[in-house]
Amino acid sequence: MVNEKIRRPIIAGNWKMFKTHLKGVKLVQEINYGIDKDIDAEVVVIPPFTALRSIKTVIEADKMKIKLGAQNMHYMSEGPFTGEISPVMLKALNVEYVIIGHSERRQHFDETDELINKKLKKVFDVKINPILCVGEPLKIRELGRQKQYVREQLNNCLKGLNKDYIQNIVIAYEPIWAIGTGKTATPEDANFMISFIRQRISRLFSPIISEKIRIQYGGSVKPFNIVPIMVQPEIDGVLVGGASLNAHDFISIINYKRKLK
Ligand code: PGA
Repeated sequence: MVNEKIRRPIIAGNWKMFKTHLKGVKLVQEINYGIDKDIDAEVVVIPPFTALRSIKTVIEADKMKIKLGAQNMHYMSEGPFTGEISPVMLKALNVEYVIIGHSERRQHFDETDELINKKLKKVFDVKINPILCVGEPLKIRELGRQKQYVREQLNNCLKGLNKDYIQNIVIAYEPIWAIGTGKTATPEDANFMISFIRQRISRLFSPIISEKIRIQYGGSVKPFNIVPIMVQPEIDGVLVGGASLNAHDFISIINYKRKLK
């Protein structure tokens, strides 16, 4: 059973606040060594800001297929914002992806849909592809209101975005109760929510755009559950946290197609 996807799968590793630049370089070299040479998925590593430059250098020097992403950005090009990183700075490092609105930023740094919307409006100016995270907390899931909750997040975060750019967005559906907890949504449920997100994109933009946009699942993705997740027709990839910090586990996730043959 070889599962062919309509959209190119994207497998991204969000390292969060782990790995110094030295450990990060070692990890990316190990990942590169283990990736199947004929891989058709896009592989992205998303280290902390301090490791971006060093990792970009080894990616370029060794002509790796791995792409680089950042975990956050400010919505201005420059200014008196101590401690912030601008999208122009990320672009200068050839960063190709940036996570926007991760639930940990919403939870611990009070990021609102309004702020996320400002960042999304800016990110297309510098031609970096955003990975927009949406997903409901446990309480909402227990009330069965996850569709309404995610619909609201999409309406607010995507408000006023340019139709010409929106097809470059990647959306990650990450139910908060599944992040770092070892609990995953069932693959069928993740597929259902992702299909729902696609329908919303169709309504907000157009059916053609909704068919082009890649939507990932995130939340306790591990080597043992990657196959049932990736065989779901609507799921175009995964955003991996904990398991992306270990070369062996991340490689096993990236090379999931081996388990399909
Ligand atoms: P996890 O994190 O894989 O450790 O659950 C996913 C994420 O936060 O992107």
